[in-house]
Amino acid sequence: MLRNKKILLGVCGSIAAYKAAFLIRLLVKAGADVRVISTTSASDFISPLTLSTLSKNPVLTKFVKNEQGEWNNHVELGLWADLMLIAPLSANTLGKMANGICDNLLIASYLSAKCSVMVAPAMDLDMYNHASTQQNLKTIQSYGNLVIEAEDGELASGLSGQGRMAEPENIIEVLESHFSKTSGSLKGKKVLITAGPTYEAIDPVRFIGNHSTGKMGYALAKASLNLGAEVILISGPSNEKIPESASLKLIKVQSANEMLKAAEEYFEHADIGIMSAAVADYAPKNVSDKKIKKDADSVSIELVRNPDIAKTLGAKKREDQLLIGFALETDNEEVNAKRKLKSKNFDLIVLNSLKDEGAGFAYDTNKVTLITHNKVRSLPLLSKEETAKKIIDYTLDLLNRKTPK
Ligand code: PMT
Repeated sequence: MLRNKKILLGVCGSIAAYKAAFLIRLLVKAGADVRVISTTSASDFISPLTLSTLSKNPVLTKFVKNEQGEWNNHVELGLWADLMLIAPLSANTLGKMANGICDNLLIASYLSAKCSVMVAPAMDLDMYNHASTQQNLKTIQSYGNLVIEAEDGELASGLSGQGRMAEPENIIEVLESHFSKTSGSLKGKKVLITAGPTYEAIDPVRFIGNHSTGKMGYALAKASLNLGAEVILISGPSNEKIPESASLKLIKVQSANEMLKAAEEYFEHADIGIMSAAVADYAPKNVSDKKIKKDADSVSIELVRNPDIAKTLGAKKREDQLLIGFALETDNEEVNAKRKLKSKNFDLIVLNSLKDEGAGFAYDTNKVTLITHNKVRSLPLLSKEETAKKIIDYTLDLLNRKTPK
């Protein structure tokens, strides 16, 4: 499970820092690629030489790498990692994580991390039980971080109780279980995806539509199929292709009402709904059954509001289901996306802005921000395939948090 996984290990100043050496050995043995950030006080407990020799990578401690002004890019580190693990986590670093106090490379990388973050606290019994520590642990959990609880036993102070950093073998088990949940595990899950535009007929020749090609939605369908899901892809008019598969049901529709009908029919049995379609918000009230003649200088078409498919599904969503929406914005992006996250009862909204070059309609790339009720994660410009994989990985993470194994 850990083979080729990129683990960013943060080591804090604690007597348990020596355990980081064992942890790195186990990670490397399991095939993981490990990079270590050590706080300056961690270096008093365990030498960077030990950590770099074991991890086979230089240990990073400061923002600035050398006198030439080269720097350790915390944003790159945050993007590189599949998982950030802070072990041991000291009370000091915990306090900084809880309050966003960014005075070292470890915290800057933590704040930049796009991946899941796990922490394994280590401190003396009374420090661990202190109300502020417990409150800070709760706070960082509310930010979406996972806490591997300290274990009971003899402590460096001579006292005995809860505060020992979890044993490296136990931490490895937690990591393996995390990756087993997030990789290849959409087996047995049904994913409903809406994709492409809708066309709202004016007459037999003309329609109201938009620039969506379906690329994003089809990429999401492929990413879900690759992870073993059963996919119901409800697609508006699109030239995109997807290989036939026993796990795929492709439903081609034209209008928002047709898309709604199919979505309502299949959502009940789905575990995840992903609303990536660009649904026309209005449709002509009356559809002419004959081509409208162009002899008049101007024509008026009365438009009526289309159903909101996502909102309809959001209102029916059960506790065991996840609903993912998209927000296509041109201004005030995050505020609008957060409003849609709430009003449509999404668990996650994927924001793309037409202000970003290469993002949105028709491009082969997208630049999205993943927004949940307690976290905002911006991704760089990626191919739509890569973006889809990241969205599905994140969705799996959310699903596993809802229904722990
Ligand atoms: O298809 P591509 O060319 O690859 O382009 C991809 C995309 C830009 C279409 C895609 O990334 C995207 O942003 N899709 C959502 C576009 C949109 O309609 O956004 P919105 O902010 O107007 O809608 C918010 C959410 O409600 C969306 O999940 C949308 O699917 C849903 N909705 C909106 C209106 C409606 N009547 N019914 C809906 O279900």
